[in-house]
Amino acid sequence: MERTLSIIKPDAVSRNLSGAILKMIQDAGLKVVAMKMIQLSKAEAEGFYAVHKARPFFGSLVDFMISGPVVVSILEGDDAIARYRKLMGATNPAGAEEGTIRKIHALDIEKNSVHGSDAPETAAFETSYFFSALEMVG
Ligand code: RTP
Ligand code: MG
Repeated sequence: MERTLSIIKPDAVSRNLSGAILKMIQDAGLKVVAMKMIQLSKAEAEGFYAVHKARPFFGSLVDFMISGPVVVSILEGDDAIARYRKLMGATNPAGAEEGTIRKIHALDIEKNSVHGSDAPETAAFETSYFFSALEMVG
């Protein structure tokens, strides 16, 4: 069993797509073991994406991530990290595989509807960034 962090990003929450995306996640057999809707502060978004601090898109990414509420959840399952990345599709929806969340719902390379952890180390950091052990109830 593995756990990964999912974020339904502001572009998707604002278009009322949280339910549709959660249905895709659950239909793929990933189990939601924690979930909440939150509004990130600038400092919280900067801390979460600190790994991208030097990238040219960092400022724009942070502004986007604080532009409205997000739905954060922890997903559990065998090989959950890789399975969720595959379900999400490529970062740029123009190149994402058919049937993926980003192909179906994302608007562009930044407003790409979902985040998923990319490795066991980042999953451990990201799940504990948003949830305490007491909130992992599933
Ligand atoms: P994520 O971390 O959100 O799951 O996405 P990812 O691994 O597929 O992509 P990553 O390279 O980690 O980039 C993080 C997020 O930054 C925005 N981005 N904008 N304008 C650009 O060229 C650009 N590149 C990336 C996207 O929102 C991307 O998901
Ligand atoms: Mg990433």
